Amino acid sequence: MTDLFAKFDPLIQQRQQLLDGGVTDPFNLVMERVESPTVAICNGKRTILLGTYNYMGMTFDPDVIAAGKQALDDFGSGTTGSRVLNGTYAGHRAVEDALKDFYAMDHAMVFSTGYQANLGVISTIAGKDDYIVLDIDSHASIYDGCALGNAQIVPFRHNDIDALEKRLKRIPEGAGKLVVLEGVYSMLGDIAPLKEMVAVCKANGTMVLVDEAHSMGFIGEHGRGVAEAQGVIDDVDFIVGTFSKSVGTVGGFCVSNHPKFEILRLVCRPYVFTASLPPSVVATAATSVRKLMDSADKRAHLWENSKRLHAGLRQLGFTLGTDEPQSAIIAVIMPDLETGAAMWEALLHEGLYVNLARPPATPAGMTLLRCSLCALHSEEQVGEILGMFAAAGRATGCLS
Ligand SMILES: Cc1ncc(COP(=O)(O)O)c(C=O)c1O
Repeated sequence: MTDLFAKFDPLIQQRQQLLDGGVTDPFNLVMERVESPTVAICNGKRTILLGTYNYMGMTFDPDVIAAGKQALDDFGSGTTGSRVLNGTYAGHRAVEDALKDFYAMDHAMVFSTGYQANLGVISTIAGKDDYIVLDIDSHASIYDGCALGNAQIVPFRHNDIDALEKRLKRIPEGAGKLVVLEGVYSMLGDIAPLKEMVAVCKANGTMVLVDEAHSMGFIGEHGRGVAEAQGVIDDVDFIVGTFSKSVGTVGGFCVSNHPKFEILRLVCRPYVFTASLPPSVVATAATSVRKLMDSADKRAHLWENSKRLHAGLRQLGFTLGTDEPQSAIIAVIMPDLETGAAMWEALLHEGLYVNLARPPATPAGMTLLRCSLCALHSEEQVGEILGMFAAAGRATGCLS
């Protein structure tokens, strides 16, 4: 019998080598108790959370929690059905209404995850003979959406406006085409030049989808994302987002002003052939989305945190993913996986959780310690975090 797992042998060996060196498995950490959006107990120790995507700290918001409890009481624990059968409850409509209001758009469609939103929308609107032009550093869910629809994938160099234009001009006349971009790229925390890119797309008669997973709630005057901040939201055809980051729960969505958008509810397989979100989840999401509309103070504090952490890490001597803070993600570039894992573990011993990110998730084979800030991190916590980076950096030899 051929061993279908043989292809994983190099990864199994690499992982074993790391564990044999005495390193805690960075991909198997258990949060034993979660006290707040910024603090949990891990390995019995109070740990500051700096790798959760909980940008706006909504997971413990009292109104959000109350809405979830009420929905559990009123509607039960799950829908046990697809949105197109028995799985559309009042709460699913309510969260779609909240999203329409949040983005000031005509249509909103909620999926069970952000992954499924990309999978569903991309694969349904761009099929076998269509072309999808996308940034090479796009999220896995975008690539998987392209693969599911069997579209022709045309990648271009990360954030390169000229490369995007060249690829678009090479697409055969009359072919269907879609450009897929992200507002914030989650590995390095850098933003896309959407103003220029969306202009290029419009000049070439191309529809544009922007995944604003890491910017919703935080970036832009109303928290609508990078497209809003750069003044091009009205020229974007589809915005995809998630409830698993700033919204603080789970789920995904697409909003659009396209007049035929609603037909997707009948033809989009990752929407039709799966159970809808539980009532408690859509109730928490709707409450959170509405509260995010009115969160300018939190957005301002999160920018302060991002600037403070970026400047502090730089001053300590770490190499960062961006020259300036561009989002709530600050990536610390490690020289290799072994050093990255050692530093990750040293930080955990100090009482700090960050994400260890490695290829293939990262661009250019990089190992990263990815920090994602929360609007509820206090100034003192950011100071503590910098102290922990200094201590772990010295303990591992990353800093002299
Ligand atoms: C850019 C981007 N899009 C989509 C997703 C998927 O979101 P979800 O966690 O809701 O599946 C993620 C999650 O990490 C993401 O980073």
